[in-house]
Amino acid sequence: MKLGLLHIAALVLLVLSQYGAAESTKKPAKSTYIIHMDKSNMPTTFAGHLEWYDSSLKSVSDGADMLYTYNSVLHGFSVRLTAKEAELLEKQPGILSVLPEVRYELHTTRTPEFLGLEKNEALYPESNLASEVIVAVLDTGAWPELKSYDDAGLSPVPSTWKGTCEVGKTFNSSSCNNKLIGARFFSRGYEAALGPIDESKESRSPRDDDGHGTHTSTTAAGSVVPEANLFGFASGIARGMATKARLAIYKVCWLSGCFGSDIMAAMDKAVEDGVNVISMSIGGGITDYYRDTISMGAFNAMAHGILVSCSAGNSGPSSMSVANIAPWITTVGASTLDRDFPAYVTLGNGKKYRGVSLYNGKSLSGPVPLVFAGNASSSSSGEVCFTGSLVASKVAGKIVICDRGGNSRAQKSMVVKNAGGVGMILTNTESYGEELVADAYLLPSAALGQKAGIEIKKYISSDPTPTATIASGGTELDVQPSPVVASFSSRGPNPLNQQILKPDLIAPGVNVLAGWTGAVGPTGLDKDKRQVNFNIISGTSMSCPHVSGLAALLKAAHQDWSPAAIRSALMTTAYTKYKNGETIKDVATGSSSTPFDYGAGHVDPMAALDPGLVYDAAVEDYLRFLCALNYTSAQIKSSTNRDYSCDSSTKYNVEDLNYPSFAVPLESASSISGGAGASSTVKYTRTLTNVGSPGTYTVSVSSQIPSVKILVEPESLTFGNMGEKKSYTVTFTAGSMPSGTTSFASLKWSDGKHSVGSPIAISWT
Ligand SMILES: *[C@@H]1O[C@H](CO)[C@@H](O)[C@H](O)[C@H]1NC(C)=O
Ligand SMILES: *[C@@H]1O[C@H](CO)[C@@H](O)[C@H](O)[C@H]1NC(C)=O
Ligand SMILES: *[C@@H]1O[C@H](CO)[C@@H](O)[C@H](O)[C@H]1NC(C)=O
Repeated sequence: MKLGLLHIAALVLLVLSQYGAAESTKKPAKSTYIIHMDKSNMPTTFAGHLEWYDSSLKSVSDGADMLYTYNSVLHGFSVRLTAKEAELLEKQPGILSVLPEVRYELHTTRTPEFLGLEKNEALYPESNLASEVIVAVLDTGAWPELKSYDDAGLSPVPSTWKGTCEVGKTFNSSSCNNKLIGARFFSRGYEAALGPIDESKESRSPRDDDGHGTHTSTTAAGSVVPEANLFGFASGIARGMATKARLAIYKVCWLSGCFGSDIMAAMDKAVEDGVNVISMSIGGGITDYYRDTISMGAFNAMAHGILVSCSAGNSGPSSMSVANIAPWITTVGASTLDRDFPAYVTLGNGKKYRGVSLYNGKSLSGPVPLVFAGNASSSSSGEVCFTGSLVASKVAGKIVICDRGGNSRAQKSMVVKNAGGVGMILTNTESYGEELVADAYLLPSAALGQKAGIEIKKYISSDPTPTATIASGGTELDVQPSPVVASFSSRGPNPLNQQILKPDLIAPGVNVLAGWTGAVGPTGLDKDKRQVNFNIISGTSMSCPHVSGLAALLKAAHQDWSPAAIRSALMTTAYTKYKNGETIKDVATGSSSTPFDYGAGHVDPMAALDPGLVYDAAVEDYLRFLCALNYTSAQIKSSTNRDYSCDSSTKYNVEDLNYPSFAVPLESASSISGGAGASSTVKYTRTLTNVGSPGTYTVSVSSQIPSVKILVEPESLTFGNMGEKKSYTVTFTAGSMPSGTTSFASLKWSDGKHSVGSPIAISWT
C-alpha cells in the first residue's frame, strides 16, 4: 500500500490517542477476533445459529460489537473483544477457535515501475463461454469510469450471479455494468480497528482511491482498450487476460491495510455470489492452515469449485520467503516481460551506462555537475534522499545520486527536485544488485544497477569537476532474455511443508501496464497531480491476476474442471527454458533459476488449453493431506470448516498429495544417524486423469542427478476414455549430501502430442 507520510503520521496519532484514552478511563483495549463456531455441534436449545452466536458472545461480554457473521467459508463471526473476553470465549462449548485478526498487505512493490503487455495474448481463443465466467478480485476496489471496464458487446449478466452493486458517496448503481457486474466494500474490521473512514481521504464505497485494485482487476479481465500507454511508454492495446469474463470487485484493502475480518467477509460473500475464480494479490498472514484467514477462506472456496489464485509475495530473493502456500491455493511468482524502458547516463569521462526510467518530460540539454547525495546532505543517511535531507546549495543545478532503499523510488526524485536538483541517478545497493525498476519520475532520472553505481561514485571521488547527462531511450521491445525471474519474487522452499513445491508457477509481474485510478498520480505520491488511465507497476500482485484471468479462460473452455485440474493444466504446460535451451534466468543471481524460484515454470496460455492429462485433487485429498501433517480433528475443522476424523489405521503421506510438482526434502549427512554414506529412500504417488484423446504416455526424467536415483513405475500408462485415471510412483533414493545442497530435475509424460511436465526439487536439510 502506498502509505504517504501523512497517513503514517495519522496512524501514529491514532494509536497514541487510543492509548491516551485507555490510560484515562482504565478501559482495557479491544481488538478484533474471528470466532470459528462448531456449527454441527450447536446445542439443540437454540433455534438458529445467530441466536447461538449471540448467546455465546453475551456470556463473556455484554454489548460487544459483532462485525460480521460468516456462513460460507466458515461458520462464525468477528467481534471486538478484550483479551480477557477472548480467553473466556475460547473456553465456551462449541467454539473451534478464537483468532486474533491479522492485518494483511498488498503484494505490490508500492511504487510504479515499468511495463509490458504480453505478445501472445491476442492469439488466445476466447469463446463466448468466457462471458459466463466471473472473476472476483479482492483488492482496493475499482475506478469504474475506465474504458477497461467498458461492457460493449457483452451479454446480460450471467444468471449464476447472485451478488450486488453496493453504492456509496462515490459509487452509484450505474458504476456497475455487464463487465463490472458487482462491487462490494468491507470496512467494518478496518473501521473497528482504526476509527471511521475519513471520506476526504478515501471512499467508503467500492471506488479505488489507490490504483492497485484497478490495476489487478483490469489485468485479470479488463476489456480491450486500443492505444493505451503511460506517457507514451508501452503504447499498444491494453487488455485483460479474459476480456469477456465478468468482474466482481470486493474492496478489502484500505489506506492502512487489509483486515482479516474484512477479507473473511469478502471471501464468504464471493462464494455466495457465485464467482468462479478469486484473485487475491494480498499476503502477510500467518502460515498455519488453521490460523491463516486466506488459507481458511480459500479452502472453502475451493470446495465450491472456485479457483483461488494468490500472489507469492515480494520478499525475494531470500529463500523460504513464499507466502500463500496452502496446497489448495494457486501461488504465483513474478517474472519480466520482453519490454524495457532504457535511460542512458553519460559521464564526463565518456563512460556510458544503461539504466531504466519512465520519465517523459523535458530532458537535460547537456552535461551538468554531478553530486552524491551522501555528500550533499545534512543528515546521517542522506544517501537515500529522505524528504528534506538534501542541502539546496549543494545540489542546485546538479544531477544527484541517490541510493535505493529507505523510501519510495519516485519520492526520491521529488526530494531532489524540491531541493533544486535537475536530475537523479538512482543507484542500487547490494541488496538490490542488478535489478532495475523504472518509475514515472518527476525529473530526468535513470535507475542503475549496483556495479554501475560503484563505478560512478568512484568517478565522482576521483574527478574534481564530475559531470553527467541523462537521456531517455523510450520503449524497447524484444528484450532478451525474457522472462527472467524478478529479484523481488518470493522463493521456495515451502516454509511449512517442504514436500509441496511453492510457488506453483510464474507470470508477468514486472513493468505491467494496466488500468489506474483517477484519485492519485502514477507514483501514488500526494503531490503527484498527474492523471493517467494506465500505469506501469510491478510486484507478484501483478502476476497473480494474469493467472486468475487465464484460469477463467480455462474454466470457460472446460467447465467441469476442478480448481486443481485448472492449476495442473497451467503448471504441467509451463515452460522453464528459453528457445535456445537455456534455463530461465534469475535477476537476483544473473544465472539460471530453479523450481524454488519459478515452480513449474512460466505460464503458457496456449498449451494450457490442451494439457492431455491433469493431476486432479478434491476436498478429500486435502483432508488426507492434513491427516498426514498429524493435524488434530479440531485443527482440521478450523482449517477446513469440516468434520473429519483421520483413520488411525491408515498411513497418510504428505508425499501422496496429488500435486503437479515434486519437492523432496532429504536429511543431510550430519542429521542421518549412521553418518556419511547413509542413503534414504522416499516414494511419492501420483494419479493422472485423462482430459484429452485416448493414448499411451511414456515417462522420461530430464537428467539423472548424481547421488539421487529417480525411479518411475510404471514407465508407461495407457488411457482410454476421457476421465480415466492411472497412478504411478516415483522413488527417490539418495546418498547423503551436506545440508543446504539442492538438486533439480524434471519428469515428463508424453504421448507424442502432449507433454505433461513436473519439476523435481530436491533439497538436503
Ligand atoms: C452516477 O455517477 C455518474 C458518474 O459519477 C453520474 O454521471 C450519474 O449521474 C450518477 N447517477 C446517479 C443516479 O446518481
Ligand atoms: C564524499 O565526500 C568524501 C569526503 O570529502 C570524499 O572522500 C568522497 O570521495 C565523496 N564521495 C563521493 C561519492 O562523492
Ligand atoms: C506424524 O506422526 C508420525 C507418527 O508419529 C510421524 O512419523 C510423522 O513424521 C509425523 N508427520 C509430520 C508431518 O509431522
